Amino acid sequence: MTVIFRIVLLQCVALGVTLLAQWWMPVSAPVLMGFASLAGGGLAALHFRRWWMALLNAVMPPVGLLALSGNIPSWFWLVAAILTWAIGAGAFRSRVPLYLSNRGALRQLEPLIPQGAHVIDLGAGTGTVLAWLARRRPDLRLTGVELAWLPWCAGWLRLRKRGVNWHRADAFAIDLAAYDVVYAYLSPAPMAALWNKARAEMASSAILISNSFEIDGVPPHARHPVGDWKQSELLVWHPNSQTRPVAGA
Ligand SMILES: C[S@@+](CC[C@H](N)C(=O)[O-])C[C@H]1O[C@@H](n2cnc3c(N)ncnc32)[C@H](O)[C@@H]1O
Repeated sequence: MTVIFRIVLLQCVALGVTLLAQWWMPVSAPVLMGFASLAGGGLAALHFRRWWMALLNAVMPPVGLLALSGNIPSWFWLVAAILTWAIGAGAFRSRVPLYLSNRGALRQLEPLIPQGAHVIDLGAGTGTVLAWLARRRPDLRLTGVELAWLPWCAGWLRLRKRGVNWHRADAFAIDLAAYDVVYAYLSPAPMAALWNKARAEMASSAILISNSFEIDGVPPHARHPVGDWKQSELLVWHPNSQTRPVAGA
């Protein structure tokens, strides 16, 4: 069951509990909202065991009620929809949202990249990784590909004077043959497809580095702990240095 579906289910249960409570002991609208918030947040805390999921689910009922109250001008929803698309195009197409590599990951990544390598960041976000490498490793050729317009614009502003090739495109449409290092911080969803692409296109000496996300059935050649609270790791594969099973096969 997908996370979205579980959240919807959970909110429905919270709403059911709230309506039952209201039927049993009628209270004012603000108190009822507070109760719905507590029910949604509490159920989410129990189910997901993540504080931010609890917070998200606690905030949903009042926001939903506010939205339905009709006090918000219609242009707000248009702007919100455009912004969501501009930031989240990658999430819609590849099920990969925007979040950025942290300092620990960048520190681990830098020494893994051979001298003079051509590096590509697939789904480069706002250019965090490439800006870091451009500052510290003038020996590298750097390329970034980002699908969503807003992060791409932010990256363009950030990298325009740093000699980085910066493209707005679908990462899965890019031929990987020319790159010595492919860096990807995506999500579990596209990893099998990425592995198949890497196997089909990457040179025999090239390496694939995934921040955090595993490839089912393909153990990495090396793991480099990032040392953060999420216990992230950089996972390194040499996709074509030897015969390896295809993910999911
Ligand atoms: C988790 S962020 C990583 C950003 C950056 N690589 C970093 O490590 O800081 C993933 C990014 O990939 C982008 N993305 C998702 N699917 C994509 C695709 N098919 N092609 C290009 N970019 C994509 C998302 O928009 C998002 O900005």
